[in-house]
Amino acid sequence: MGYKVTLIPGDGIGPEVTNAAVRIVNASGVKIDWERFAAGAEAYAKFGEYIPKELTHSIESTGLGLKGPVTTPIGGGFSSINVALRKQFELFANFRPIRNLPSLPTRYPSVDLAICRENTEGQYSGIEHEVVPGVVESLKIITEKASTRIARFAFEYARREKRKRIHAIHKANIMKMSDGLFLRCCREVAKEYPEITYGEHIIDNTCMQLVMNPYQYDVLVMENLYGDIISDLCAAFVGGLGLVPGANIGTRCAIFEAVHGSAPDIAGKDIANPTAVLQSAVLMLRHMGEVEAADKVHAALEKTYKEKLHLTRDVGGTAGTSEFADAVIANMEHVAVATGD
Ligand code: NAI
Repeated sequence: MGYKVTLIPGDGIGPEVTNAAVRIVNASGVKIDWERFAAGAEAYAKFGEYIPKELTHSIESTGLGLKGPVTTPIGGGFSSINVALRKQFELFANFRPIRNLPSLPTRYPSVDLAICRENTEGQYSGIEHEVVPGVVESLKIITEKASTRIARFAFEYARREKRKRIHAIHKANIMKMSDGLFLRCCREVAKEYPEITYGEHIIDNTCMQLVMNPYQYDVLVMENLYGDIISDLCAAFVGGLGLVPGANIGTRCAIFEAVHGSAPDIAGKDIANPTAVLQSAVLMLRHMGEVEAADKVHAALEKTYKEKLHLTRDVGGTAGTSEFADAVIANMEHVAVATGD
């Protein structure tokens, strides 16, 4: 069966890393017709829109997107395309699994965490205004609906994957109403999953606890801003931003993307690490039910890391983006032969 997937190559290193991921996914044997669209500044220059209508229609019809990083201007200019896509398609859950890859020297050797971040509200609601000159107000929106939805997503994931513990991360000691509501929703949902141990930790303590001992956590659920920060902190446990995947999941569609940005400092040099986008594509294959292809790509990726022959510079190698992709494709053939035996 053939699939259609919307591909947003993005800016900076985006086209290089998504191209590598697409080549590897195509080599896995799953038939995908990729519908390519620009977004952000490039789309605006061509079509006068940051998110062109054609892109919106494509995601609506395919229900699946693979996205490279898109540059967002800081302190002014257009709003984040990532945040806009998440809101537009109600991609309410941002899911980020954090696991070690073989042979990479990291502070902790066997981290296995799952971060479930609410993706549509909190401080990312984009409601900011100047009250009087010199005073700006930024609203944090927390709703029962969105909090219950992300809590249920986290508990359903934990039940499906036989995870043992969920911690809700909050600052309800200070933001008593907003984070208080978030916690009440988590507690209500937790009652329906008695087999999963439920706990609550305050965000600042969580940062310290994570760095001291990440093994004490299993699944973490939190509102938008805390999730953004904790995700990057946890990415550092397993080797950094070039490695960690992400999925934005809604009821109608899902967009898979790397955690890292467009890395303008290394763009266009064929040196970026495509692992994060590739691991996001593996999450996408699982979401599509293409478990065998997902396992095959992941096994080939792990083999490439174990061999240490074709790794990119950010993880201590000398290979370029395309050489790394070629090595994963070659290893996929070996993995396939081994499976066939
Ligand atoms: P960044 O993630 O682009 O770069 C941070 C550092 O990590 C840089 O030194 C970069 O070279 C390195 N790096 C990132 N990805 C890498 C990879 N795949 N391989 C090797 N090294 C890698 O973060 P920064 O500089 O804060 O943001 C740059 C732009 O990206 C900004 O416009 C920002 O808004 C945007 N951005 C977009 C995201 C998205 O589309 N999902 C997410 C984060 C940032």
